[in-house]
Amino acid sequence: MEKMWAGRTMGQTDKIADDFDSSIRFDQRMYPEDIQGSIAHAKMLAKTGIISQAASQNIIQGLEGINEDLDSGKLAIDPAAEDIHMFIEEVLTDRIGADGKKLHTARSRNDQVALDVKLYMRRENAALVDLLKKLVAALCDQAEKNQDALMPGYTHLQRAQPITFGHQLMAYSYMFLRDIDRLKEMGERMNYSPIGSCALAGTTYPTDRVYEAELLGFTAPVANSLDGVSDRDHVVEMISDLSLAMMHLSRLSEELILWSSWEFHFIRLDDAYTTGSSIMPQKKNPDMAELARGKTGRVYGDLMGILTTLKGLPLAYNKDMQEDKEALFDAIDTVKMVLATFIPMIQTMKANKEAMHKAAQKGFINATDLADYLTKKGMPFRDAYHLSGQLVAYCIDHDTVLEDLPLDFYQAKSDLFDEDVFEAIDLKNCLLKRTSLGGPTPASVLKQVGEVREKIAAL
Ligand code: ARG
Repeated sequence: MEKMWAGRTMGQTDKIADDFDSSIRFDQRMYPEDIQGSIAHAKMLAKTGIISQAASQNIIQGLEGINEDLDSGKLAIDPAAEDIHMFIEEVLTDRIGADGKKLHTARSRNDQVALDVKLYMRRENAALVDLLKKLVAALCDQAEKNQDALMPGYTHLQRAQPITFGHQLMAYSYMFLRDIDRLKEMGERMNYSPIGSCALAGTTYPTDRVYEAELLGFTAPVANSLDGVSDRDHVVEMISDLSLAMMHLSRLSEELILWSSWEFHFIRLDDAYTTGSSIMPQKKNPDMAELARGKTGRVYGDLMGILTTLKGLPLAYNKDMQEDKEALFDAIDTVKMVLATFIPMIQTMKANKEAMHKAAQKGFINATDLADYLTKKGMPFRDAYHLSGQLVAYCIDHDTVLEDLPLDFYQAKSDLFDEDVFEAIDLKNCLLKRTSLGGPTPASVLKQVGEVREKIAAL
């Protein structure tokens, strides 16, 4: 078949080269955006008198019919088409005749594809934000439920100081809240319309780019036509934001995997989100969390891929840029799949408060409080730190804990010790006294939950 772009070229392109060149395999998912963009273009062409109202109407009706038929499956995408833009224009011309050939006036596939990708990203950005909001809501619910679940907080994966499970979960809520922020900000930043940049140098037709941008919900047209067709910053930015979200998801995954092991036994994931082993009947594997951790590498790969593709590209459009879509789509699909699995997995997760409490009792997570006790009584902190360290070492040697050492033992080490030392190192007190802003107490967790819920409600 003769190519729509068979202008200067006479010879047929090679079949293998055609397949290599074609992007329909992956860009077909943008058909709603391509049609939306073309309808706006037809309106602009009529408004400015570049084509007649009648031709514009004819085009719009034709495009709406194609949209319906693609939605319903009545019209199948032709895998041999070069890309979704050519496919839709070809079908339109088949269906409505000569008017169909007028649609591409004052437009190029270069600004068309840039427009479609932005429209697609806008839709997906909203879907991603929605999923992230649901994940944050699930974390807030669990944090509220576990506001008083005392557990050891860790540094170097060694028991460090007392916190609550609610506190730990809220830390993740804030990370995902920032991910939402980033997506929303990049959505604003990219919301400038490239259409009307044409191939690269604008056009001699009296187009109205402002009108077309308004029709499509953009803040304004991109100010420079070369930038309009060359810019893929937003693709990089979105994949970068998604890489960050995956980084957060993978850290949460790692903890879910650890916490659901027998070694920790802090949580129980619902059977719906774990798998068994084909040989070991006792197994309950946290596959979803592991897969999410694994897929993080894949999204980082998408980021490195697009950065590398764009590096050193001269202005304006180069075919290399067709490579932006697979990376973008893969990153979006991956994050959406992970989030869709994580939301119910977090909602149904059960905390084992006893196991957390038991872990908190072992590991001397009140040693800082012991040092603070002495410091508050007048001992310089560094001395108090050393003395507390000696007491911990003694406890380890004698298989006991700080709470069980007798008072006279303490007093033999320093006359600053009094009966109230036991209150000071009582685990519950160690937790409840950490009243500094942003701390782990149930009251602080509830405050954080309230604040985050308010923020997501306002989004
Ligand atoms: N399929 C192309 C892409 O995805 C569309 C733009 C093609 N433009 C061109 N002049 N070949 O980038």
